[in-house]
Amino acid sequence: MNRITGLFNIKYPIIQAGMIWCSGWKLASAVSNAGCLGLIGSGSMYPEILREHIIKCKKATDKPFGINVPLLYPQIDDHIKIILDEKVKIVFTSAGNPKRFTSLLKDNGVTVVHVVANSKFALKCEEAGVDAVVAEGFEAGGHNGIEETTTFCLIPRVRESISLPLIAAGGIASGRGVLAAFALGAEGVQIGSRFAASVESSAHENFKKAMISSSEGDTKLVLKKIIPVRILKNKFYQQVQEAEDRGASADELRELLGRARAKLGMFGGDLDTGELEIGQIAGFIKEIKPAAQIIEEIVNEFEQVRKQLSNFSFK
Ligand SMILES: Cc1cc2nc3c(=O)[nH]c(=O)nc-3n(C[C@H](O)[C@H](O)[C@H](O)COP(=O)(O)O)c2cc1C
Repeated sequence: MNRITGLFNIKYPIIQAGMIWCSGWKLASAVSNAGCLGLIGSGSMYPEILREHIIKCKKATDKPFGINVPLLYPQIDDHIKIILDEKVKIVFTSAGNPKRFTSLLKDNGVTVVHVVANSKFALKCEEAGVDAVVAEGFEAGGHNGIEETTTFCLIPRVRESISLPLIAAGGIASGRGVLAAFALGAEGVQIGSRFAASVESSAHENFKKAMISSSEGDTKLVLKKIIPVRILKNKFYQQVQEAEDRGASADELRELLGRARAKLGMFGGDLDTGELEIGQIAGFIKEIKPAAQIIEEIVNEFEQVRKQLSNFSFK
């Protein structure tokens, strides 16, 4: 038991990241049933769809689960209202100012966690009164910080800056990864890409297959002028890269991105023109597995490597 398992009342300090087009009720409930914390990713859901996912998740698990709320979502007030109506007790906010909804949520008995990519924002989380912080490094899939701080550098820095419970994210998909994050000062981990490539993920099969056949170096952080995002290299990526190389403006990039490109790729399975958000660690994931098996393997490897390391000493 540590501060993260205590905060969420879960067995293992592992959080399945909220992910647009991947983490609906099926994935969140499978992860929660396996002793970790599942999150529904609300960022790709209309408000009433979010409500449906919450209702289905409650039926599928009697364990705690939460909702990830990216603060740049246009109908954000409706999402917050549904979360409060449905009495969901855990919210992870991201991509915005932690002050925005923390008081309202906490006044309604919700545990609030905010995602940051640097220690400056981690301090803002502390001021805003959140219960825990996710620090997400440069390796992570999806939207990301502009500063390119890797998980390895970020976690010890944030650990020094704040006293709140700390969850590491970005590039973690194995027991070894979890152990490394703990050695750096984290008390829990948030895992995205590994669960995006799970049986229960709602990502299109084409996208899942593309994830597991990708290799080292196949993702890149692009679109820094508008909203930095790590994606799998494909035709759309080539277009973005060419535009960025010739110094395209933010407006030009916005036009190139257009609307619903992530849905097209991640949910629709269009591997050429869709936007395929995924982390660096995808290059090391070789099989689509059920969430419970992924968790079991992580837990077993964590224990095995922890024991091996305890035999090693510098003295
Ligand atoms: C497919 C995908 C979609 C994502 N969507 C969201 C999202 O909607 N909201 C959010 O806060 N983070 C999102 N992220 C980031 C994750 O929540 C998480 O922090 C990240 O995946 C951790 O790094 P990893 O992919 O190396 O495990 C997404 C990541 C991926 C891979």
